[in-house]
Amino acid sequence: MSVAKKQYKRITVKSLVEMKANGEKISMLTAYDYTMAKILDGAGLDVLLVGDSASNVMAGHETTLPITLDQMIYHASSVVRGIERCLVVVDLPFGSYQSDPKEALRSAIRIMKESGGHSIKLEGGREVKESIKRILNAGIPVMGHLGLTPQSIYKFGTYTVRAKEEEEAEKLMDDAFLLERLGCFAIVLEKVPAHLAKKVAESISIPVIGIGAGNGVDGQVLVTHDMLGMTHEFNPRFLRRYSDLYTEMTGAFQQYVTDVKSKDFPSDDEQY
Ligand code: KIV
Repeated sequence: MSVAKKQYKRITVKSLVEMKANGEKISMLTAYDYTMAKILDGAGLDVLLVGDSASNVMAGHETTLPITLDQMIYHASSVVRGIERCLVVVDLPFGSYQSDPKEALRSAIRIMKESGGHSIKLEGGREVKESIKRILNAGIPVMGHLGLTPQSIYKFGTYTVRAKEEEEAEKLMDDAFLLERLGCFAIVLEKVPAHLAKKVAESISIPVIGIGAGNGVDGQVLVTHDMLGMTHEFNPRFLRRYSDLYTEMTGAFQQYVTDVKSKDFPSDDEQY
């Protein structure tokens, strides 16, 4: 049966819940700057995530832990200036919400006020319950993030698939129910078995957006630089590359060097 797609002028948190109810999959990618956000928005994406993966992709850190709240606000405000239609979700960075709910609310308010983002995302389930409640009480939409939560990488030890064992799968399921009950508008599920992700998506009414979580969820998210093939040394199984920009960009840069060195650039037509 074909699904009639509603045309959304602006995507809101309500649109996403509606998309799930209508069986329309949600497309989400990361953005950290104005130019990329403008291209993504124009291409018809539903959600732009100002992910703390900016720590890896933009700043070259090994983990997402070093990025600060000020840096996230800088990235998010650049993204917001580039969009007309997308919903913008901004990650609360490590250390900005774990210590106590009041601090979590202060961080979320700073993101909303100073960046103009439309919602926040944070990692974890029951551990961050009180923070989620407080942020939601202030009228700030919250997206959850379960499964592989990169801010806890030193607890996990590796970036391998999470919740393969029954105990962790049950905890994840309970956390998903909890996030739904608290009022989160969606959940990101990262790197968990496809059958578990499908079960979660079928069991709750809010959208489940997967990364490395199979096709049984309500939407997909990837890191834009990965799907464009800019980060060619990163090759997880879940990643589909839609371009090979690393090779294309290297070729363009090499050609530029050649043209400058050979005095081919600028030509007569390229000067005043
Ligand atoms: O920071 C990020 O890019 C993310 C996605 C991987 C979901 O959280």
